[in-house]
Amino acid sequence: MRAKRSTLVHLIYFSRLNLSADAPSRTQQIGEITRQAQKKNEFAVITSFLIIEQNFAAQIIEGERTSISDAFTRISNDTRHRDVQIVEWREIIKREFVNSFATGIRNPVNDAVFQKANLLPMFQRGTPKAAAIHSLAVSLQAESMSKQGIDHLFV
Ligand SMILES: Cc1cc2nc3c(=O)[nH]c(=O)nc-3n(C[C@H](O)[C@H](O)[C@H](O)COP(=O)(O)O)c2cc1C
Repeated sequence: MRAKRSTLVHLIYFSRLNLSADAPSRTQQIGEITRQAQKKNEFAVITSFLIIEQNFAAQIIEGERTSISDAFTRISNDTRHRDVQIVEWREIIKREFVNSFATGIRNPVNDAVFQKANLLPMFQRGTPKAAAIHSLAVSLQAESMSKQGIDHLFV
């Protein structure tokens, strides 16, 4: 008999970042988070996408159930953000994100994609929808793939 495959889940949460208002320090702080998270996620075979808009963060992490649970414990204990709230946690059939840690920060280039998703008012009300976060993350990943010329691998 074949061994049961491990259970794949995704977790979507949002939070408020406690980052510096000064742009260069903020970039450095995000770089620091990226370095630490990427290393942990590679080790735990987690794939993820982090959206940053103003001082709000929303992240989708996907992987084996216990790895996601452990990662979320680390994430929610991190003082670089606060008010960490789970939006959705469920089983998935397959992964949708290709990198252990990728970030989409609102900027003039991707502004239209963020505008279409219109997440900011939902963040401000404290009620972002899982589907809205998910679809923005998928669009930002697709945009980044197509810039790298490798989008045909992911259709
Ligand atoms: C916005 C944000 C996103 C993060 N994403 C992840 C992540 O995807 N995976 C992870 O292991 N840690 C993530 N972290 C970092 C962890 O919170 C923590 O710093 C890191 O895992 C090291 O944990 P340790 O000090 O317990 O070893 C994130 C932190 C922040 C503020």
